[in-house]
Amino acid sequence: MAGSILITGANGTLAIPAVEYLLKNYPDHTALLTVRDLSDADPNTNKLREVISRYPGARAFTYQLDLTSLSDTHQFANTLSKYIQTNQIPPLKSILCNACYWDLVADSELTEDGYDKTFQINHISHVALVLKLLDRFASDGGRIVLFSSEAHSPGRAILEKIPPAIPDDIDLLIKPAVYADKAAGGFHRYGNSKLVITSWTHAFNRYLEKDPGLQNITAVAYNPGGLVDSRIFDKNTSLTLSLLMRYIIQPLLPLMRYANPQMRLGAESAVDAIELALDHIYPGERGYFELLQKDESSPESRDEVKQERLWVKSAEWANITKENTALRADFK
Ligand SMILES: NC(=O)c1ccc[n+]([C@@H]2O[C@H](COP(=O)([O-])OP(=O)(O)OC[C@H]3O[C@@H](n4cnc5c(N)ncnc54)[C@H](OP(=O)(O)O)[C@@H]3O)[C@@H](O)[C@H]2O)c1
Repeated sequence: MAGSILITGANGTLAIPAVEYLLKNYPDHTALLTVRDLSDADPNTNKLREVISRYPGARAFTYQLDLTSLSDTHQFANTLSKYIQTNQIPPLKSILCNACYWDLVADSELTEDGYDKTFQINHISHVALVLKLLDRFASDGGRIVLFSSEAHSPGRAILEKIPPAIPDDIDLLIKPAVYADKAAGGFHRYGNSKLVITSWTHAFNRYLEKDPGLQNITAVAYNPGGLVDSRIFDKNTSLTLSLLMRYIIQPLLPLMRYANPQMRLGAESAVDAIELALDHIYPGERGYFELLQKDESSPESRDEVKQERLWVKSAEWANITKENTALRADFK
């Protein structure tokens, strides 16, 4: 039996068609699907269940995981680790760190762990999950897909008003400045989280490559393009943005593609994300991908001094030490 594919935020816009593509085309794999709210009251989780029910022979398991809680994230990783160790589920072949959050209508909100919510969901909790599960990968390795965005790179995203940047005072990432323009501040927090993920991925790959036991695991920072049908545009955004996306941008997608070929539907990126995760695209390659093209990430994300600072701080924020990850790397 082939390995397990873990997907966070599995009831999202990109994730639901990704799950369907995986179950339909690779039924020998096991899908491990986490959602923030597993209850029947969540319409998106019900959509995910409906997709799974179309493939009765497939192996798909759903779990509740709210990434705003670091202790829940560690607990979930421990549980999964035990299931794999005791052969209840096959070893991992891939983790897709897909879940994301933004808030373009409010100031930064702190989680129970005291971190900016956007930064914790998008980055810190995924760091904890990934680093804790490295020793549960199949012996022939696998691939970790971390979700980047054009928002990581200054001057590209149309919603950017404050360019993403790694602040000298690095703690501003976990407790960001407040801006009078909430949309500007909210998108800045999102862009910064994507910049940090991208930068961290480069450091992660350096450590993976150096570790004889883990060097056949690769990490990619993947920009899936602008997903015009994403439900992210309906949540924590202005009504204007939501209506613009739904009634102007989406219907005009065929035309929009001429202006920006990266504009697409979640279902299109879903296929790419699974093929990338299964190592069918640029097998064995690491680094940054724009859609399915290997590319250079932003200049700041390639600064190795900043990468190392983020590496050490991210582990600290995520409560990762030498004791709870198999990776031999620099931790406090
Ligand atoms: N959409 C775009 O245009 C675009 C562009 C570039 C990159 N990306 C990246 O591509 C990935 C997929 O985007 P998408 O458009 O599919 O996003 P989406 O539809 O908004 O889905 C996001 C997922 O994250 C989950 N999530 C949010 N808060 C969570 C929490 N506290 N704990 C656990 N899960 C949580 C959501 O669940 P709930 O709804 O239940 O909270 C949802 O399942 C993201 O990483 C995104 O940053 C997207």
